Amino acid sequence: MIPTTIMTRCLPPTKDGVAKGVTVLRQGGLLGFGTETVYGLGADATNTAAVRRIYAAKGRPDHNPLIIHVSSLEMAERYALFSPLALTVAARFWPGPLTLVLEARTDSDLSSVVRSDLPTVAIRFPTTSVAVDLISGLGRPIAAPSANLSGRISATTAAEVLRQLGGRIEAVIDSGPTQIGIESTILGLAGAPRLLRHGAVTAEDLLGFLGALEGPGQGSKIIAPGQLASHYAPKSAVRMNVLYPGPGELWIGFGPCAGCALSLSPSGNLDEAAGRLFTIMAEADDRLAGKGVMAFAPIPSIGLGRAINDRLFRAMAPRSNIQRGEELEMGA
Ligand code: TXA
Ligand code: MG
Repeated sequence: MIPTTIMTRCLPPTKDGVAKGVTVLRQGGLLGFGTETVYGLGADATNTAAVRRIYAAKGRPDHNPLIIHVSSLEMAERYALFSPLALTVAARFWPGPLTLVLEARTDSDLSSVVRSDLPTVAIRFPTTSVAVDLISGLGRPIAAPSANLSGRISATTAAEVLRQLGGRIEAVIDSGPTQIGIESTILGLAGAPRLLRHGAVTAEDLLGFLGALEGPGQGSKIIAPGQLASHYAPKSAVRMNVLYPGPGELWIGFGPCAGCALSLSPSGNLDEAAGRLFTIMAEADDRLAGKGVMAFAPIPSIGLGRAINDRLFRAMAPRSNIQRGEELEMGA
């Protein structure tokens, strides 16, 4: 049973708010906090009981590992083995919205529940001061998936965190809407460089830096969101690449679009579209009230457009893998 009885506090993004957030984490509590990508649902990554609570609060399957967030490369090196290539990638892209999957060190105090007992660990060094101050204040990494119910849309505001997880977590720090609005890119570097999830750092940027990059690949044993059929799902059904919406469809545009009810970016700007994707999905859900379809106009698959199309593709998938008991109404 998922506990729904906690009083969730909303904290300001001040020194005092961050100090209170650190106390929540030290006591084994769950804390929502903003990063440059989306809000995270954080717990002390060395506290197994606290990490287990993340899975319970989200209704997340325990075979889907978590990202740990660090406030320095030195902290990251206490938890993962960095090859010379991994060090050059970190020097180029950290802090920033790139998660590295590396071989986990076996001599660290990390809870193995964080990595679902995999030999690898996913690590990210975020840019926002609230996130960095929380991690430095705790003195240990924060394990944090996106702050949403498992399979549902990610939260880019504290209000959305409260809507999905209110009553299940101790507090959220409201640092305003997140800057990028779409999750970090995940790059596997435990073997040959492999893109595990499209995200805020574009595939073009990574390829330009690395020279060679494998795609997510079929049948890989590594669990990443791309291997879960349904993800980022609003309550309503989703269609993508829609040029002619049907009856009952709410048409969501990209670029100039005369008949569209909403738009990801009227000027056709991919940064703006990524930033608005999850809030537009939430708004479309409210407007449709469970009846009808949100129909997205085509978005070019270049740069950030790849990450946006990836999210829409998962959002379209049949919802059978979203577990019973994690419908939005339950946590609201
Ligand atoms: O931008 C982001 O990455 C946000 C913010 C909060 O940092 N976090 C986020 O976490 O998107 P989450 O849990 O929603 O997605 C991270 C994904 C997991 O679903 C998991 O599949 C993958 O990272 N992952 C974690 N550890 C992994 C590992 N050892 N190998 C492969 N994939 C891993
Ligand atoms: Mg997520």
